[in-house]
Amino acid sequence: MSDEQTPFLAVEDNRLIVDWGHGVQGEFAAVWLADNRAHDRHANGQRLIDIMDIPEDVRIQAAHLLGDTLRVEFADGVAAFERQLSWLRRTLGPITAERAELDRHPWLFGAQLDARRDFAWSTHAQFTTDAAIRGVWLRRLARDGIAFLTAVPGVEGEVVATCRLMGEVPHTNYGLLFDVRAVPSPENLAYTDLGLGLHTDNPYRDPVPGFQALHVLVAAPDGGDSLFADGLALAEHLRRTDAAAFSVLTQTPVPFHYRSADADLCSVKPIIELAVDGSVRAVHYNNRSIAPLRLGAAEAETFYVAYRRFARLLLEPKFQLRRRLAAGELVVFDNRRTLHGRTGFESLRHPRHLQGCYLTRDSVLSNAAQLP
Ligand SMILES: [Fe+2]
Repeated sequence: MSDEQTPFLAVEDNRLIVDWGHGVQGEFAAVWLADNRAHDRHANGQRLIDIMDIPEDVRIQAAHLLGDTLRVEFADGVAAFERQLSWLRRTLGPITAERAELDRHPWLFGAQLDARRDFAWSTHAQFTTDAAIRGVWLRRLARDGIAFLTAVPGVEGEVVATCRLMGEVPHTNYGLLFDVRAVPSPENLAYTDLGLGLHTDNPYRDPVPGFQALHVLVAAPDGGDSLFADGLALAEHLRRTDAAAFSVLTQTPVPFHYRSADADLCSVKPIIELAVDGSVRAVHYNNRSIAPLRLGAAEAETFYVAYRRFARLLLEPKFQLRRRLAAGELVVFDNRRTLHGRTGFESLRHPRHLQGCYLTRDSVLSNAAQLP
């Protein structure tokens, strides 16, 4: 025998109340119902009406069930709302349940994690041939901010070919792909054998690169360990432990600038960017490309205290996921969230060579949502 009850309907204060039993109750405004009528949508799902097509004083006159279909009549001849009750119930759930990119799982103590155990991995062969594996992997990338492939063929350009199965690979002033190895006269410190502190890439770009991929062609047997930290978790940690510093880093405009022979890029962003709901939307942290701040002395002093506070967190090994990537491994990470860096290595003895590229954010998240 089913325990499904017939939902209880009521209209109060120009709102429809639906009680499904078991504590599940929804309250729907008249204007919301009028804006979500099924027949106002084209077959492609796009809404055909505008808010100005709905009377400002739209009023519910009656509501009743016809089997599983809910019908809400409005006064003054306004077209009725008619939909399956199950549709209405689904709108009660958080959108994070449907979109992996909104359901981010922060990981603060990176040193306690094992990259191999705690994040998504796939072999290149499985990833390239099985759409379902690709879908699961991409959704974990969206949630965790980092994921890995192994047994990727060690040929130049493979990073782009593989990443095109994840999303769109944009062309930048660094090219379609970039070689990360020590070169004479490097235009970027990434192209040296120096250690690199945790950072996000290209905050001087708008938008910043959505995701970054790095494919190891030649690993260094000694040094050149990759470091990662979850900027989302670290920003939330700062909010809990030093609310004043957190607030300063969300409100101070920081100019980032990059200039080379073929590019002049500038963007102004806070170090910690908030979404409209107050959650952390992005972290932009790159000591190499911060231009001189345009702040009064008092503001500058306050900013530098907060900046140092966050920088100190980034230096703490307990927050760092560390892995010496092996040849054939490919890591992809969310560049709005996951900071990356490396330890130094000796390029004369060990010519470590990675190739990297970026991925546009929308294309990766679209594939994460569409793949099985
Ligand atoms: Fe980088």
